[in-house]
Amino acid sequence: MKKEFFQLEMDLCESVEELSNEDVKLLEEAIIAAENAYAPYSRFRVGAAVLLANGTIVRGNNQENAAYPSGLCAERVALFYASAAWPDVPVLAIAITAISEKSIIEEPIAPCGACRQVMAEYEKKSGNKLRVIMKGQKGPVLIASSMRTLLPFSFLDDFLLKY
Ligand code: THU
Repeated sequence: MKKEFFQLEMDLCESVEELSNEDVKLLEEAIIAAENAYAPYSRFRVGAAVLLANGTIVRGNNQENAAYPSGLCAERVALFYASAAWPDVPVLAIAITAISEKSIIEEPIAPCGACRQVMAEYEKKSGNKLRVIMKGQKGPVLIASSMRTLLPFSFLDDFLLKY
């Protein structure tokens, strides 16, 4: 049996000063989104801001529910709304952050697996790379230049078209 190695490459910025104005703005929008999250059960507020090719920024945040699985993550709230309102506009970037009521988050927020799958879908649909900008409340910013980094060997429409 042969071993296959997949490499991950991301940009790590020690502070927001290293970011472009566009990325700083997107993170600011994600913070506003996080502040408005409905997270009475986890008390972990997640915010996402999606940049569309027409310049529109769409915010989303986690929406929890007393019946826990009925809630939805911030990233999917933002992406589903973006796709519902601007179905033909490509998605260029998504910034993700979070605010915890327990303690200060000092590392970049990693999107969950289901959100990665949804991000991969819209990246493919958009026909361009989707940049993912991740940050905690403090600490470094991590940037993935495409979903190939965050979700390698992913299930996309190619399989359905082929088989
Ligand atoms: N959450 C997100 O909004 N995005 C993720 O990628 C991971 C988790 C939310 C779901 C739930 O409301 C809370 O964070 C705790 O899991």
